[in-house]
Amino acid sequence: MVLKAAIVGSVLAGLAQAAQPGAASPVAAPMRDLDWGKLNILHTTDTHGWHGGHLKESQYSADWGDYISFAEHLRKLADEKGIDLLLVDTGDRVEGNGLYDASSPKGKYYYDIYREQDIDIICTGNHELYQAPTADEEHRQTVPNFKNTYLASNLDYIDPLTGERMPMAQRYRKFQTKNQKLDIVAFGFIFDFTVNANNTVVQPVEETIKEQWFQDAIREKADVFVVIGHVGLRMQEFKDIFTAIRDQNWFTPIVFLGGHAHIRDATAYDSNSIALASGRYFETIGFLSVDGDLKRSFDVPSSSSSLPKHTSFSRRYIDNNLLGLYHHTGLNETTFPTEHGRNVTAIIARARKELDLDYNFGCAPKDLWMTRAPYPDDNSIYTWLETEVLPDVAVNADRSEVPRLVILNTGAIRFDIFKGAFTRDTTYIVSPFTSTLSYIPDVPYEVARKVIILLNRSGPIFHAAMADSSVPDVRFMGIPEQFDPTTYSRRQQQQHASDSASDFGSSQQKPLFNSNESPMEPALVEGYTTEDDIGNDGDDAVHSVIDFYAVPNCIQTEIGVPEGEEDKPDSVDLVFVDFIQPWVLLALKFSGGEQYGNKDVRPFIDGKTFTELMEEWIKKNWRQDCS
Ligand SMILES: *[C@@H]1O[C@H](CO)[C@@H](O)[C@H](O)[C@H]1NC(C)=O
Ligand SMILES: *[C@@H]1O[C@H](CO)[C@@H](O)[C@H](O)[C@H]1NC(C)=O
Ligand SMILES: *[C@@H]1O[C@H](CO)[C@@H](O)[C@H](O)[C@H]1NC(C)=O
Ligand SMILES: *[C@@H]1O[C@H](CO)[C@@H](O)[C@H](O)[C@H]1NC(C)=O
Repeated sequence: MVLKAAIVGSVLAGLAQAAQPGAASPVAAPMRDLDWGKLNILHTTDTHGWHGGHLKESQYSADWGDYISFAEHLRKLADEKGIDLLLVDTGDRVEGNGLYDASSPKGKYYYDIYREQDIDIICTGNHELYQAPTADEEHRQTVPNFKNTYLASNLDYIDPLTGERMPMAQRYRKFQTKNQKLDIVAFGFIFDFTVNANNTVVQPVEETIKEQWFQDAIREKADVFVVIGHVGLRMQEFKDIFTAIRDQNWFTPIVFLGGHAHIRDATAYDSNSIALASGRYFETIGFLSVDGDLKRSFDVPSSSSSLPKHTSFSRRYIDNNLLGLYHHTGLNETTFPTEHGRNVTAIIARARKELDLDYNFGCAPKDLWMTRAPYPDDNSIYTWLETEVLPDVAVNADRSEVPRLVILNTGAIRFDIFKGAFTRDTTYIVSPFTSTLSYIPDVPYEVARKVIILLNRSGPIFHAAMADSSVPDVRFMGIPEQFDPTTYSRRQQQQHASDSASDFGSSQQKPLFNSNESPMEPALVEGYTTEDDIGNDGDDAVHSVIDFYAVPNCIQTEIGVPEGEEDKPDSVDLVFVDFIQPWVLLALKFSGGEQYGNKDVRPFIDGKTFTELMEEWIKKNWRQDCS
């Protein structure tokens, strides 16, 4: 482990110049260096519109312009050393931040900002596909913006005018790296996603890898295969692709770059492969390197007479933090920003201003956490919604006398609320979805009360959902950070060994919040402390651990339902966020409400999204003056 004190940090904290105006100043931490190899990759994933950086979190406050400067410097370094650097992005670029969501149409500024980065391999995530217009714009803008580098190995697009089905982009890409002329064969996948809008078609990976074009592509001469995908590293899809490529190429290094799970993660499918996932929300820039004798490893393909080459791999999770970016480039606040980077920073600042993203709805009296506080708890965002917001906003004037159960899935919330201004930007960060409240009137209480238990426990429902292809995976209800069962249980086990502060257990890996702004203070800043299959030295900045508590799939508020068992009403309105309708109907089948179907579901509050209801509540209940 290479540890270096970040000397720049102690001098420069508070002075760093790029990033967005008003963004929190970065704080120094002890740093681990990048281990360069012959082939090096920078990776972003699940950026979800955070291209302006995290203005309220000092650890991640660099913006897309800074990343452009960073990549420019690293490319130059690679050129000087005669090695190669590639940039990769694995999708879910949209939805989740005002910079994308607040404009009308959505993404009015985002597409032009995003395209400024020079990316060598890029693919689609599920968030580009939920809404038909989003997929249309992806096809109309981002695909041509990355004309030669956008890959869609298992994704088709349906032209709205002609109805013609075509590949979203080219299926794969073969190219040579700039300096060493390494032959790269690259693919771009999405996991077996099923709830996309009807203008795209996701082909299951298992079928794609049987197709002729794929079978031909894995027989191309390659020095390195680079498989990128909006796929969790522990998901079967990547394993299947790995097996198919490895069967044909016994000794060629295979590199995987994945996402979707919103975590920092790395593993190896065998000793000559590596897989990296680079977090979420533009908190992390993943760095991966392959070293060894890479050129011509294919000369004697698939033959036992060809000896395996010695290849080694390294990975680093770079915090999107200016001081860290200076450290890795050996530059400082004056020398780091390039003209191109500065331009993009300025374009983002203008867009944020035009969108009025700093408009304040009200001041959060304290931090409210998704997973850094247990649930239920006074500091839990879910407890706040359950006890304060939902009882107030889940009101239908015509049925205000009817007792009701109101169910919200925890995945409806995407981010913590920090003490201080809750701005227009915050709204989209915390709840970017357009879901509304629906209800089924007059459900027998004994039937309705069981729904939340089934949704949370998900035992029988889980199996029925798997059997019924019209019902999506139950895990979509929860937060994506808990989506991957393998990683999740591994993390839970780690936690059980160290501490078990809640019923749910907690994990070693959690995003950071900076609590100590003093540059003279040697204490570590809280942040990611990642343990992956390769070790516990992946993070570039050395942080102290943050607690993590698992949350249920759904939470519920009872309104107008008396406490005492003997006083319970005969029937209630069953109110829920429309997103979870398929699971609610399925749960009803198992709780004695088999007669209910889509025909019984009605809008509860018409024309207002859950996000707008929350916004109104904040305006009414939180002070406007944050000082
Ligand atoms: C997709 O759905 C929309 C509305 O639900 C419908 O108008 C359209 O014809 C459908 N398109 C295809 C290709 O099935
Ligand atoms: C940044 O580095 C340059 C070149 O090494 C040096 O001249 C300059 O004084 C440095 N600036 C700061 C603020 O440290
Ligand atoms: C930066 O913006 C200026 C002014 O718009 C423009 O003249 C210049 O070409 C831009 N430079 C780069 C590298 O994008
Ligand atoms: C399910 O949800 C209820 C209501 O919000 C909550 O009290 C309970 O702890 C949850 N149960 C599980 C097993 O997650």
